[in-house]
Formats: sequence, C-alpha cells, structure tokens
Amino acid sequence: MKILSVVSTRPELIKMAPIMHEFKQREIENVFVTTGQHYDYSLFKSFLEDFDLAKPNEDLEVGSGSQGFQTSISLLKLEEVIKRHSPDAVIAEGDTNSVLAAALASQKLLVPFIHVEAGLRSFDRTMPEEVNRILSDHCSELLLAPSKISEKNLLLERIDQDKIVVTGNSIVDSFFQNAKRADSSDIINEVKFDDFCLLTIHRKENVDDLKKLQTMIAILLKIKHNLVFPIHPRTKAILLKNKLFEKLASLKNVQIIEPVEYFDFLKLLKECKCILTDSGGVTEEALFLSKPCLVLRNNTERPEVLSKICSLTGIDEKRILDSIEKVLVEKSTKYNGQLGLPGVSKKIADIIQKRYESGQLIVKPSNFFEKRYY
Ligand code: UD1
Ligand code: UDP
Repeated sequence: MKILSVVSTRPELIKMAPIMHEFKQREIENVFVTTGQHYDYSLFKSFLEDFDLAKPNEDLEVGSGSQGFQTSISLLKLEEVIKRHSPDAVIAEGDTNSVLAAALASQKLLVPFIHVEAGLRSFDRTMPEEVNRILSDHCSELLLAPSKISEKNLLLERIDQDKIVVTGNSIVDSFFQNAKRADSSDIINEVKFDDFCLLTIHRKENVDDLKKLQTMIAILLKIKHNLVFPIHPRTKAILLKNKLFEKLASLKNVQIIEPVEYFDFLKLLKECKCILTDSGGVTEEALFLSKPCLVLRNNTERPEVLSKICSLTGIDEKRILDSIEKVLVEKSTKYNGQLGLPGVSKKIADIIQKRYESGQLIVKPSNFFEKRYY
C-alpha cells in the first residue's frame, strides 16, 4: 500500500510522527509531504529531529499568507503531487489550512482521504479551524475520531457510521513515548524563576485582535505568578508590528523565550505549576499530566480536557484571575483515558491496512444521498 501523508505544521508533525513510524514498520510506503505552512526551524525541522524522522519527500514551500492564499496554493500544489505519486490514500491530522487543502485535493481526485482527529467541533464557525474541520470531515472516507464525543458530532452531521472509527488521539503516543526522555532536558536552567506558570497563545481570534492582546498584557501584569512564555512567531510578529513586544518583555513576572523543541516543552509542562494556553495540543498534554490549566478561549472543540482543574476563561480578567487561584488548589485526578491509551497509532495503522486490504478504502457516494427525501 502507498500512502501520502500531508504534515505541515508543528502540531501535525507531533501527532503524525508516531503514525508515520507505524507505517515504516509495515509494508506501507509513505510519501511524506509538507505544504510548508510552518517553515521555521523551531516550528518544523526541530521536530523532525526530535521524532527521528527523515525530511519530507516533498516540500511545497507555500509558506505564510492569507487564509485564501494558503488554502488555494496548497490545494493547487497538492493536486499535482497527489497525481504524480498516485497513492492509495491520503492522510492528514487536524484542522489547519493545509489539512483542508489535502482533503479537498484528494476528494476531487477521488483518492480516499483519511482524517486523523476527526469530529472535533467548537461550534464556532468564526474560527478558520472550525470550517477546516467540518469540510475536511465531509471529504473523508475514513474518519478516525479521538473519542465518543467526536464520533457523536460526526453522526449528528449525518456522516456514515461505517466510515468512523473511535481510535483515541495519537498525541497520547507522542506524549507517553517521549515523556521520560523529557526528564533529561536542561531547559529549566534557562528559566529565571524558582516557580512558574507556562503560557502559550497564538490563536487568530486572540492575537489578531489588538484590543484582546492589550487586555491580555494588562491581565499578565496583574497575575501574581511568574510566567514562562515560549512565543509563537505569529504572536511575536503582531506584538512587534504594534510596538507591544517591548511592553510585554518589560513585565517582571514574564519571561519570553523562543519556541522550544518538544522534549524541552514537555519538561516545562512537567515542571510548571499551571498552564495558560489557547493551544489545542497543550490542553491535551495538560490532561495527561493532570496539570492545572486555563484555556484562554470561550469555547473548545476538546471538551474531554475540561475538569475542575481545567477551565475555559477566554481573555477575561476576572475569569482568569479567579480561575488561576481556584485550579491551583483543586485536587487533581489521574488521566483516565479520555483520549485513548498508548497504542493509538498502532490501532490507526492497523485499521488503515485492514480497510485497504479488504477493498473498503475507496471513494464512495455517501449514504447521506441514499437517504434523500425526494
Ligand atoms: C496554524 C493553524 C492553527 C494551529 C497553528 C499551530 C490554520 C488556519 N491555523 O496557525 O490552527 O493551531 O498553526 O501552531 O491553519 N510564521 C512564522 N514562521 C513559520 C510559520 C508562521 O514566522 O514557520 C508566522 C508568520 O508571520 C505567519 C504567522 O506566523 O503569517 C501565522 O502562520 P500560519 O501558518 O498562517 O498560522 P498559525 O498561526 O501558525
Ligand atoms: N510545543 C512545543 N514547543 C513550544 C510550544 C508548543 O513543542 O514551544 C508543542 C506542544 O507540546 C504541543 C504542540 O506544540 O504538542 C501544540 O502546538 P500548537 O500550540 O502550535 O498548535 P495547536 O495544538 O493549538 O494546533
């Protein structure tokens, strides 16, 4: 079997790495393609090294740009690459513009598309990611849902039950296979505080809105805890453009650092008191570690992570300041497999191989049309 894996951003690489390793162990030929959506060493290449992956077979060098630019150029270039390699299936994980382009290109070429992390819904269509999720799922022949909740979302959109398999999320493997290795990271020597909370923020709805960004800086000043902040390039670029970077960097309780490699980030996660983030993957890792966490959003497509120690706060001063003290004293509970247990990637590779070998991995007209009312 020949599969084409489209993996183009930091979280996709982290979550697809254990799956691509599973392909390597079997008779599955893997063509590794990046659209080039993330191109900085610290957002892409460092993870190839961390996960012991060879560089992509194809780099489409699409780079940064507007939503329309990134999606359309990726679609155009992926169409050519899929035609040239003629794979039996295309696979991608998540909700980025590159994933949507991969799903559309595959569907239009009638090559089966496999969506890892299918069925996540924030029910907020103002997020580019939500639109990407919905459209990608509806272009998929095999939908690998991380939980029963995500499966239910797909069924409610009338996606065929037999296209959906609940597998868990492959970040379970990325995390548990590497958590021990993180112990040897010496990143803590670079942290200037004795104790700290870990902050990441990069969502379009948070950082492209200047007012929200200014509010966030004002809130950080009022937080009575130290914060280590590995800054996403999107956030850094906007702060610099609006002359807010210096202001943030001058806060005594905030230490801005460059994005760090995976093992260093896991070490920071393990050592911090609490996490403040608008990232999807980071909230999942907070769940595995039973770490107190504030989700700096008003909604989430990952309800599995919410608990007494993990609250939605948006960028709201009162909610953030109150919640941080609350989650810090709540009793934590051990991860109980809400997103699956180690072995998710093996399960995913097994399902793909089985469906391919039994001739089930083909593009077929959906049952949806068979249930028409006319
Ligand atoms: C993208 C995804 C988001 C995901 C995030 C993971 C979409 C719509 N968004 O957001 O869902 O959570 O990746 O991190 O697909 N930049 C660099 N170097 C890079 C890449 C980007 O400097 O290697 C800067 C550029 O200024 C660019 C900006 O970051 O304009 C935004 O990059 P982009 O890939 O469009 O979106 P992300 O914010 O990274
Ligand atoms: N991460 C990392 N270094 C950092 C920040 C994050 O390795 O400096 C990892 C983190 O462990 C998580 C993933 O990046 O697995 C999350 O990526 P991101 O927040 O960019 O995207 P999202 O998950 O929100 O789509």
